[in-house]
Amino acid sequence: MRYRSRFGLLISGRGSNMQALVRAVRQDHIPADIAFVGSDNPQALGLIWAREQGIETFVVDYQSIFQRINSGSGPTRSLIPRIIAEMKLLEQLKRYDFDLLCLAGFMRILTSRFIDVVSPNPDCPSIMNIHPSLLPAFPGVDGYGNTLRYGCRVGGCTVHFVDKGKDTGPIIGQRTFVIESSDTLDSICTKGLKLEHQLYPLCVRLFFEGRLQVKLNSAGHRIVFVQ
Ligand code: GRF
Repeated sequence: MRYRSRFGLLISGRGSNMQALVRAVRQDHIPADIAFVGSDNPQALGLIWAREQGIETFVVDYQSIFQRINSGSGPTRSLIPRIIAEMKLLEQLKRYDFDLLCLAGFMRILTSRFIDVVSPNPDCPSIMNIHPSLLPAFPGVDGYGNTLRYGCRVGGCTVHFVDKGKDTGPIIGQRTFVIESSDTLDSICTKGLKLEHQLYPLCVRLFFEGRLQVKLNSAGHRIVFVQ
């Protein structure tokens, strides 16, 4: 019988948010265990760290799946390889018991089908993501870069539940930093990451404490209430 909640992590690269979450679990700041760390990228540095920590890992090598299948044109080039890669990802996820899936620098867009399987109820979502901008500004890749290039005076990061849109899911938490004229992309990434590492563990903790409720508001948006 399983007594403690569990969450899984998906990463694509260095995995500093994953490390912050693992540390928070180990320091008892999150009342749950880590079920697995998965990646679409066999070279992801975070995988090495996770294995050293004794965490179960797996890889679904998206790139090699894409190369094998991408011989056609039109929709075959984009959607079909993605669906096949996701089927393999779902096969891996099925091996584990988990209550929440955390995307931590996972650089792949999830299809609606994947979301329907892993997080079928939009009122009780169970996939979280961390995004490097103050959503709804600058969805997609390079949130910090786009914030800087736009000339924003503040930047920030957002943790949100994943829905079927592009970084559009209900916002759980945000943190901001000031952008000075002397700031560079490197310096704002440093400021942002420092906040990400505080914010993500806090949001996961709220989830496992049962303190997040998603409700439709009068404007028709699903929003998160923190109790
Ligand atoms: C972070 O900036 C996160 O917001 C974004 O991708 C980056 C991942 O960094 N989604 P890391 O792999 O957690 O260090």
